[in-house]
Amino acid sequence: MARSGIPADGYRVYLLWPLRPRRCAMKTQYYTSSSLDGFLATEDDSLDWLFPLGDINDTSYPAFFEGVGAIAMGSATYEWILRNAQEVSDQTGSAWPYAQPTWVFTRRTLPVLPGAKVSFASGDVTSVHDQMREAAAGRNIWVMGGGDLAGQFHDAGLLDEIIVQVGSVTLGKGKPLFPRRVLSPGFALVSVNQVGTGFAELTYRVSRNDR
Ligand SMILES: NC(=O)c1ccc[n+]([C@@H]2O[C@H](COP(=O)([O-])OP(=O)(O)OC[C@H]3O[C@@H](n4cnc5c(N)ncnc54)[C@H](OP(=O)(O)O)[C@@H]3O)[C@@H](O)[C@H]2O)c1
Repeated sequence: MARSGIPADGYRVYLLWPLRPRRCAMKTQYYTSSSLDGFLATEDDSLDWLFPLGDINDTSYPAFFEGVGAIAMGSATYEWILRNAQEVSDQTGSAWPYAQPTWVFTRRTLPVLPGAKVSFASGDVTSVHDQMREAAAGRNIWVMGGGDLAGQFHDAGLLDEIIVQVGSVTLGKGKPLFPRRVLSPGFALVSVNQVGTGFAELTYRVSRNDR
């Protein structure tokens, strides 16, 4: 113990502090809805089961969305938006309701809706994550889905949180929420929020030994 009462080792931590890379508060979040039995959509990519369950404005979504600086999605999710452009436009006022720069993962050539800030990406998510972090400028990165793409961010050690609105329905089969086996270190449940009778919103922190 040093004379000042600060443990000698404490100085080392203090002196090293300015040399450490600055960690900003930005998080990479997989935010999604799922059926009670763990599906994002039916096998044929329908979300018709989801919308009757509640009003999105009663959920955490508006506050979550305020913090989003960049978005990642897979091609099936993107194509759902393209297919439902009219409905999306009727509900949000725009066929492409995201002002944030968005990366769509695909190995194909897909159309872009007018006004959409969309880039296409393929392969390893890590370099794309670097670009997204820069574009997000300190705000959060939203991995919208699907489940395997969120899993790819997790595999690369890039996922910080999983936020799931678990709907009070089952689908039996469909597109999986998170097709990975994650046992140890697992996820830490940090909050539970009931939204009427339709949803339980669960927030998990992704636990990592290397953080
Ligand atoms: N319930 C919700 O809140 C919610 C949220 C998100 C999505 N969804 C729905 O859930 C379904 C998800 O579909 P999905 O599970 O098939 O997932 P998806 O991630 O939307 O699409 C998967 C496809 O993306 C492309 N892809 C993924 N990773 C890639 C990579 N690293 N490099 C290049 N291409 C890559 C591949 O297609 P190609 O290379 O052939 O293009 C792959 O087959 C959709 O219907 C979506 O609308 C629901």
